[in-house]
Amino acid sequence: MRLVAAPDRTAVAQHAADVIERFVSTGAPTALGIATGTTMEEPLDEIARRHRRGSLSLALTEVYLLDEYVGLEPSDHCAFRKFIDRRLVRQTDLRPDAVHSPDPHAPDLDAECNRYEHDVRNARVGLQLLGIGANGHIAFNEPGSAFTSTTRVVRLSEQTRCDNARFFPHGIGPPATAITQGIDTILAAGELLLVACGEHKAVAVSRALEGPATVSVPASAIQLHPKVTVIVDSGAASLLQGAPSRHLEAH
Ligand code: F6R
Repeated sequence: MRLVAAPDRTAVAQHAADVIERFVSTGAPTALGIATGTTMEEPLDEIARRHRRGSLSLALTEVYLLDEYVGLEPSDHCAFRKFIDRRLVRQTDLRPDAVHSPDPHAPDLDAECNRYEHDVRNARVGLQLLGIGANGHIAFNEPGSAFTSTTRVVRLSEQTRCDNARFFPHGIGPPATAITQGIDTILAAGELLLVACGEHKAVAVSRALEGPATVSVPASAIQLHPKVTVIVDSGAASLLQGAPSRHLEAH
């Protein structure tokens, strides 16, 4: 595992964008897995800036989302699909039909989960971006999710719904359920890039990186992957113990 400790969110975004740029700039088609949420905003905005400067193209990239809420209207501003539309499709040359996500409006959600699982596996995602929840979740795999889990409908924890309430209009919280790629689906990607910012992520980051690999901390499953980069700011890194001597790359 390669751990990059950056001083602040801006530096985190630069490092994350460097990894993404290297991945999408080989001149060959690529499949990029993307997480949504606050942590991803600055890295994706930096990707859009590099595109505007002419240094980066997403024309050959297919994007696969990790998850989507169940129960929002297709046009809802809070849907993860809309997040990618706003931050990448409208800002870069990423084709709208190159964005793939589970359809939370499908009549048979279990069949839709199977379809999406199949599509993601077939796509062979080369680089998977991950955020981390304050409770240690990755995608919407909440504590207790099996490391063998695949794409499925899940019930969101109260903590996750509280944490994500800020994205929703006042008084209307996030839906109770979502479709998420499973942990095994995520671990099938060629490379993982986990990004975390802020002191409120410090406990989750230290448990994920330095605790045992356990289903009570879903993000600790990344320890089982052979190619992982973790980029953290000083707040998210603040509880890491052994990292500086083991594998910390300071910037
Ligand atoms: C969303 C996702 C989630 C987020 C996590 C952190 O697609 O995969 O696991 O990455 O909830 O969210 P933020 O960045 O908003 O703190």
